Amino acid sequence: MLIVSPSQDQSQVKLPASEPRRYTRAPGTAYLLPSDEEERQRLTKQNALINRTFGELVHAPITLTSHDFVLESAAGTGAWLLELAEQTPEAAKFIGIDIESHLFPNPATLPPNISFEVQSVLNLPDEWTGKYTLVHQRLLIAAFRTAEWPQAFKQIFRVLRPGGWLQLEENDNWVAGPVMENFRSMMLKLGESRNIDLWPDVTPVLKGYLEDCGFVDVRVDRRCSPLGSWGGQDGRDGKDNLLSLFRGIRAPVMGGGGFGVVDSEEMYDDLMNRVELEMDSEPGALCWWVMICARKPEFRKSSPSRDGS
Ligand SMILES: C[S@@+](CC[C@H](N)C(=O)[O-])C[C@H]1O[C@@H](n2cnc3c(N)ncnc32)[C@H](O)[C@@H]1O
Repeated sequence: MLIVSPSQDQSQVKLPASEPRRYTRAPGTAYLLPSDEEERQRLTKQNALINRTFGELVHAPITLTSHDFVLESAAGTGAWLLELAEQTPEAAKFIGIDIESHLFPNPATLPPNISFEVQSVLNLPDEWTGKYTLVHQRLLIAAFRTAEWPQAFKQIFRVLRPGGWLQLEENDNWVAGPVMENFRSMMLKLGESRNIDLWPDVTPVLKGYLEDCGFVDVRVDRRCSPLGSWGGQDGRDGKDNLLSLFRGIRAPVMGGGGFGVVDSEEMYDDLMNRVELEMDSEPGALCWWVMICARKPEFRKSSPSRDGS
């Protein structure tokens, strides 16, 4: 039996009633990945891997002071925001938002200058206009329908103060061998079925959206980490991260009938095992990440309207 989310939005994940993974019920979202304990662990390890790949947490050229507000869009576990708050000597204010509160840290453990709240980046509060010095947003590639990317950037543009910075990080591509390509073809079809673009090369698309929205000084930094046991700790962590992500989309793939690539959960798991073998036996299998920093100009001829246009 299939259950449909309460909004009846056809692009939302349809799952068997017996599905053990927990997925968000946030209204209207097309988000594909789970929000549960396995996903918390994956995001925590992935955060450490991305930090090792990029080094500093903040690449935008700013120094935070006690007057600054930092927003983390789609914060998930909030790991990036919590680490930044710990490293920032001045008592700046840190706000994390997500459509799903399930992965947020326990509020009782947070210092008074850090808070998390349920908000969609697609519709940020009016009173946040011009408030933030830095907005960070990481890994929304499995969340936004095509038209939602520019919508999110317009909202972020609006809530940044003039001269404030957006720092984005996304997964750009995975390179291994033919089994990975087969897996990717299934993921692309899953994305298409929900109007989500899982672009294999996301960088020029996002850069274009940012420039169209009015951001300037757009800086791109692409880096890679190894995938597979040949690549030491980073390689093992990268592989485990990807396999956990693949386990997370098994339910939506099966809910979509396997997209002509797999017919059953057993076939799906077999394909995953073969991707794992391929990563381990292909020295050179890589995960590409991209960081994009972009600045809201100090002055603009006319102020953006409520929807940022
Ligand atoms: C792959 S997780 C990444 C979490 C975190 N940024 C990190 O790097 O660990 C994507 C997150 O985006 C959230 N999300 C999806 N659509 C969103 C939206 N419209 N507004 C805010 N958060 C959203 C999901 O609930 C999920 O927590």
